[in-house]
Amino acid sequence: MRKIYVFDTTLRDGEQSPGVSLTIEEKVAIALQLERLGVDRIEAGFAATSPGDLQSIREVAKQVKNATLLSLARCHTKDIDAAVEALKDAQDPCLHLVLATSPIHREYKLRMDKAKVMETAEAAIRYGRKFFDKVEFSAEDASRTEVDFLCEMTAMAIRAGATVVNLPDTVGFATPEQFGEMFRTIKANVPGIEKIQLSTHCHDDLGMATANTLAAIANGVDQFEGTINGIGERAGNTCLEEVALALETRSDYYGAKTTLNLGEIYQTSRMVSKMTGMSVPGNKAIVGANAFAHESGIHQDGMLKNRSTYEIITPETIGASSSKLVLGKHSGRHAFKEKLIDLGYSLDEEQLNIAFAKFKELADRKKNVLSEDIRALLDDNMTEGPK
Ligand code: KIV
Ligand code: ZN
Repeated sequence: MRKIYVFDTTLRDGEQSPGVSLTIEEKVAIALQLERLGVDRIEAGFAATSPGDLQSIREVAKQVKNATLLSLARCHTKDIDAAVEALKDAQDPCLHLVLATSPIHREYKLRMDKAKVMETAEAAIRYGRKFFDKVEFSAEDASRTEVDFLCEMTAMAIRAGATVVNLPDTVGFATPEQFGEMFRTIKANVPGIEKIQLSTHCHDDLGMATANTLAAIANGVDQFEGTINGIGERAGNTCLEEVALALETRSDYYGAKTTLNLGEIYQTSRMVSKMTGMSVPGNKAIVGANAFAHESGIHQDGMLKNRSTYEIITPETIGASSSKLVLGKHSGRHAFKEKLIDLGYSLDEEQLNIAFAKFKELADRKKNVLSEDIRALLDDNMTEGPK
């Protein structure tokens, strides 16, 4: 099974979610939880952004021992110097350099031609390598860059000493087929590509970040970048737990897996949600409150007979407590009867029929029928209470 390296950027791209600002203590707590989760690489921040960001990377670097630590830097010496300072206590530091390569960014943002972009990136990689054994180079907006220029940039990055080349879908523009093809072209045409790791980094503007990341993995990338709960700029980044669970559940298809401690996923998701103040929607894949909840009668009946009928992942896999059979108007007799047994009631067939009819009447009026509603309903209508 091929190992896929996990690069977490919750503390950098994730913190770029509008309205999110984490304290140093919160960043350290999240980083230590990411270490327990077993991520390979943690991007702790962007040192040149502010003195506070630099300080928080330093604190994280003092405490995290079992993951590579990165700081983002633009291709300027002052950014690289700030990253050197921020990562000086890290056990396993890595510089993360970024420069945009697409025509739109070259013309309107950088006002640089291709040659200048190439020269600027090369100088920064060579300067970075004076201080770091590991340097990742990201070609920002790679998915909207001419593929032949991307091949030239990747070849230059390898010659200059980059150890990882990351090709991001910065604005969530790619489609899975196109994105996969881009990586196939890079792998087939760049000399020395086997000497470095290839990485992907996606955004979710069209809701395709997970699909694009998986397409990149299917086409040979070694590393994917993502955030917990998919938080990040605009519509967010690739949701780390979705990719990890897709690889775990469909390793038959991808032939690749992460080495994450999957049982830490739920706890990590709760912590990030609480500290960032960004709630997780109920229907969110993997970590949403409804991800393991079943309401309809047909589904509940299947679940009571065998969980694999309607669950492809168990809640225990991600460290969540257990599947829930939610009682509502779509629920069936089988689930209702199981709930009564759970609550300690023992009804004969006729009593069960009456109670079930009352429950359906109540469920038409009330979205979720809770244990206390059922107790009230039975204690009002039946003579016999729980045994
Ligand atoms: O989205 C992006 O391109 C980035 C880079 C810094 C990797 O966040
Ligand atoms: Zn990004």
